Amino acid sequence: MTNCYACINRVHRYTNTTIHYNCDKMVLYYVLKHGYRFGAEVFFEFQRAQRDLSQWNEMYVASIGCGPCTELFGSLLHWRTMGKQDAMYHYRGFDLELLWYPLMNQVRAFFPLDDVATYGQDAFDYYRGTQERIDVLVLNYMLSDMKKFQPAAFNCFLNNLTSLVQEKQVRFIMVNDIYLKISLEASRDLLNALIASRIRFGFSAGQYHGLNQFIGLYRKVMPSPSFTMPNTAIVNKYDPFRTVNSIQTIIRIQ
Ligand SMILES: C[S@@+](CC[C@H](N)C(=O)[O-])C[C@H]1O[C@@H](n2cnc3c(N)ncnc32)[C@H](O)[C@@H]1O
Repeated sequence: MTNCYACINRVHRYTNTTIHYNCDKMVLYYVLKHGYRFGAEVFFEFQRAQRDLSQWNEMYVASIGCGPCTELFGSLLHWRTMGKQDAMYHYRGFDLELLWYPLMNQVRAFFPLDDVATYGQDAFDYYRGTQERIDVLVLNYMLSDMKKFQPAAFNCFLNNLTSLVQEKQVRFIMVNDIYLKISLEASRDLLNALIASRIRFGFSAGQYHGLNQFIGLYRKVMPSPSFTMPNTAIVNKYDPFRTVNSIQTIIRIQ
């Protein structure tokens, strides 16, 4: 059996800032190894905002840096768990990394009846050309990726993001990211960019980790809920991560 985890781990390693995803097998392995965990984390993040979300009849989700769209699975499952109809759920996923495109197409094909779309296009360009709204903007392991691999473009990205939030009257930004210093900094950068743009918001942030001796405490430590991984063939063969492990910042725009 091919095991691509060593290559993925090299990309994700704290000290690496140059080697990005660079192989089609690597991105497939990523889905099998991380998919359940990342999807579950997003599910629990949406659940933490349930008091608001349960009032909504319809939800437009936009994910920048969607890759294999694990946030689609987490957020749609949560929507269904609240007893809402698929027809009232809308998803737009954006990524500029070519390696993900076959997977993004596969994910779209998995939901033939739903309003699920993925684009290999800049999200800001897309939204400049449409009246479509955004209720929840998801940044799922994306901010750390960009701050790490494209640091020079990061501030410009945050400026575009705050303009998008204002234009589309986004109601929530959901950040789910790795518990490393770089993503703690990236989340704080985002909060500061919102403040600088005079966007009024409330936020709650937490981490599933206990105190980390190197990184410290981001915000409150949240209990780690367990989740089920229904495909036993995948579990037996690929040994996916079985626990949630991220930091999360739920930003409620006022
Ligand atoms: C660690 S992956 C996370 C993918 C994902 N959301 C998931 O379900 O696992 C981070 C992704 O962010 C993408 N990304 C980074 N900067 C971006 C940008 N400015 N616009 C679109 N995608 C970006 C990268 O190409 C990469 O696929």
